[in-house]
Amino acid sequence: MTAWLSIEGLSLVEGGTRIIDGVSLQLGAQRSVVLGPNGAGKSTLLRLIHGLLHPSTGTLSWLQPLSQAMVFQRPVMLRTTALANVVYGLKLKGYPAQERERRARAALARVGLETLAKRPARLLSGGEQQRVALARVWALEPELLILDEPTASLDPASSREVERIIKDIAAAGTRILMTTHNLGQARRLAEEIVFIDGGRVTEQTPVTEFFQSPRTDAAQDFLEEETP
Ligand SMILES: Nc1ncnc2c1ncn2[C@@H]1O[C@H](COP(=O)(O)OP(=O)(O)O)[C@@H](O)[C@H]1O
Ligand SMILES: [Mg+2]
Repeated sequence: MTAWLSIEGLSLVEGGTRIIDGVSLQLGAQRSVVLGPNGAGKSTLLRLIHGLLHPSTGTLSWLQPLSQAMVFQRPVMLRTTALANVVYGLKLKGYPAQERERRARAALARVGLETLAKRPARLLSGGEQQRVALARVWALEPELLILDEPTASLDPASSREVERIIKDIAAAGTRILMTTHNLGQARRLAEEIVFIDGGRVTEQTPVTEFFQSPRTDAAQDFLEEETP
């Protein structure tokens, strides 16, 4: 497996605290899920990879430049329709005006929201808003999609719907790098688990093996605490 991203000695220090502490990691899987306790540094690691934060030390080496997009726990919706939210994303990325609406409608259809295209986005349910956010990024056909706890504030039915969409995006060829608190979701979506604890990556393991026999006590404890 050729790594599409090699991370070497990555650290982020804020106010004297090492939030990310010497992470070296090769990402080559198509679907990687980052797991770890609250405050472990999962969001920070994803933000560093997406270029939203600059590392204090270390390097990110991309095998080749990848177009990438990120989705957060709570989607930010513009005060306009669902369709216009998706169109706006395409506009920002420089898609020609005559292509935007067609692409946006196709993306909304792929997330099952074509009938809600003209609704004000902010009046949609949390799950529907997250699907608009996924349509907004899927319309751009990114090569890498980073998702930070995309279902954390959703009910189980909406979570499964969002999970199905993430699967479809992956099946269409996009690499997925995400975090979740939902272990069932991690099992269903991941090829490999990257476990992070106290700002350090302590293991990177194929998903089945991780859930059967995590390599560290920290991961074992995490699985016991998180399993209902
Ligand atoms: N800008 C910041 N300044 C100082 N501390 C931060 C900052 N961002 C995050 N942290 C701290 O870094 C740790 C890791 O945060 P985060 O990456 O959000 O963890 P996770 O997503 O795994 O819950 C936490 O203890 C958090 O409080
Ligand atoms: Mg987080």
